[in-house]
Amino acid sequence: MKDLTDQKDLTDQKDYKQEDRCTLVLLAAGKGLRMGGDTRKQYMNFKGMPLFAYSLATMDNCGIITDILITVPEGDEEFCREMVEACGLGRKVRKIVSGGKERCFSVHNGLQAIDWPCDYVFIHDSARPFIEEQAIRRLYDEVKTHKACVAGVPSKDTVKIADSEGFVKNTPNRRDVWIIQTPQVFGFEMIRKAYEEMVASYDDLQRKGVIVTDDAMVVEYFTGCKVKLVMASYSNIKVTTPEDLVTVSAYLKENSDE
Ligand code: CTP
Ligand code: MG
Repeated sequence: MKDLTDQKDLTDQKDYKQEDRCTLVLLAAGKGLRMGGDTRKQYMNFKGMPLFAYSLATMDNCGIITDILITVPEGDEEFCREMVEACGLGRKVRKIVSGGKERCFSVHNGLQAIDWPCDYVFIHDSARPFIEEQAIRRLYDEVKTHKACVAGVPSKDTVKIADSEGFVKNTPNRRDVWIIQTPQVFGFEMIRKAYEEMVASYDDLQRKGVIVTDDAMVVEYFTGCKVKLVMASYSNIKVTTPEDLVTVSAYLKENSDE
């Protein structure tokens, strides 16, 4: 595996002053059903590194992130730790814990397992390998003011809201439509409490047909806090289906230093 230990730590070299403790909760506990194949999506190998290690490397190298927790499928904790060490990315990784049945339960497990000082939590899907440091910095700047912010990009496509029969109900103004990504970043106490409430009322949400697909939703439902949208980049794709692998290869080729 590629050794990444030679990457520079920004806290050591720039005018950067770290004031807060920021924990990354890196989600890698999914089943990768839409990707299919024998190897779970998060472990698929790209140029000698498993997919989950790409965003881990960026976060490891970013001085804003002080601590890292990774969620993995139950039983994979040791296997994942070995991969993290083999990539030379273990220095901030405090815990590797098992995730839950759905993404939201993995996040909840991760938040509950943080037992070190923490001001802000960055929740990131390991299925988004190309998160850029600039976006992390922007998010950090915004969360200090707003307590809740999410990475995203303005939609390039027109979006339609459908009715239950598959007809167009209405068309939101494209200017107001954002495609939401991760990281999603929050004050630690607020997001932990919001997730506790979400888990306690999960059955109720299900009965109402509410599917919790991101972290901002939990804040929207269970706190009075407004969530700020922060521009990330169109390259911060989520690797979801086999077609996405073409984009991953193209992106890796483009950024190759060979
Ligand atoms: N994830 C998780 N725990 C779950 C489900 C998802 O930690 N129970 C993580 C995935 O590993 C992924 C991120 O959440 O990094 C976003 O999920 P998604 O892209 O949907 O990945 P999978 O759930 O693995 O894929 P699929 O839905 O196709 O099964
Ligand atoms: Mg999923």
